[in-house]
Amino acid sequence: MQDTLERDGQPSTPQADRVDRAPAMPATRTPDTEDGYAPELWFATPIWPRKVLDHERIDADILTAMDTYERELPNVARSNVGGWHSPSDLHKRPELAEIRGIIGRTCVGCAKRLAFDFTRFDLVFQEMWINRNGPRDYNRAHVHPNAILSGTYYAKVPEGAGNIEFYDPIRERIMSVYPVKERTKMNSQALQYRAAAGLLIVFPSWLQHAVEPNLSEESRVSIAFNMTFRAKSA
Ligand SMILES: [Fe+2]
Repeated sequence: MQDTLERDGQPSTPQADRVDRAPAMPATRTPDTEDGYAPELWFATPIWPRKVLDHERIDADILTAMDTYERELPNVARSNVGGWHSPSDLHKRPELAEIRGIIGRTCVGCAKRLAFDFTRFDLVFQEMWINRNGPRDYNRAHVHPNAILSGTYYAKVPEGAGNIEFYDPIRERIMSVYPVKERTKMNSQALQYRAAAGLLIVFPSWLQHAVEPNLSEESRVSIAFNMTFRAKSA
């Protein structure tokens, strides 16, 4: 794990520590070849896609609950253009407890990868809601403010219902566009994941994303969520 220096109770940048150690780095031992060598990657943008096992039964329960919500709950406008968007407190609903548990455990694992301090803080649900995007509905590019981790789980995805697209958060990179032979993690400025039932994607809440228009004639149903942190009680 990367060392950090403490200053005023806040961790300083890892780079400060690296500068201190830089003279000792064995730079001359790296072979000078035309193929180059692997860079250190910093300012990472993690995205965690996973397929939920045995999701068909969970999806059926979600769709049953969705029918009830659409009859009984108000439609809330957020980044969605068209479609139906539930209120954001569905993490409190017992009928969604199973998918909530899967999402919560997944996010804890993701947060551990981010070195989140679980000794002093808990990762908790801030919001969870459900979306039905009908034909031609889509979601504008947006971020999820005031959260740490966000994500989406797909319960129903007809063919052609639209993918989720993420955008490079390092905007300055548009100043250095160069010809490439292929798109890689090192040169892409947008990235799509193909939506599919059972797919759960977790990402940093600051990562801008959008959802393509639903070009099928059926609706797509997904659950979205925001995770935040809360100090452990003494
Ligand atoms: Fe979103």
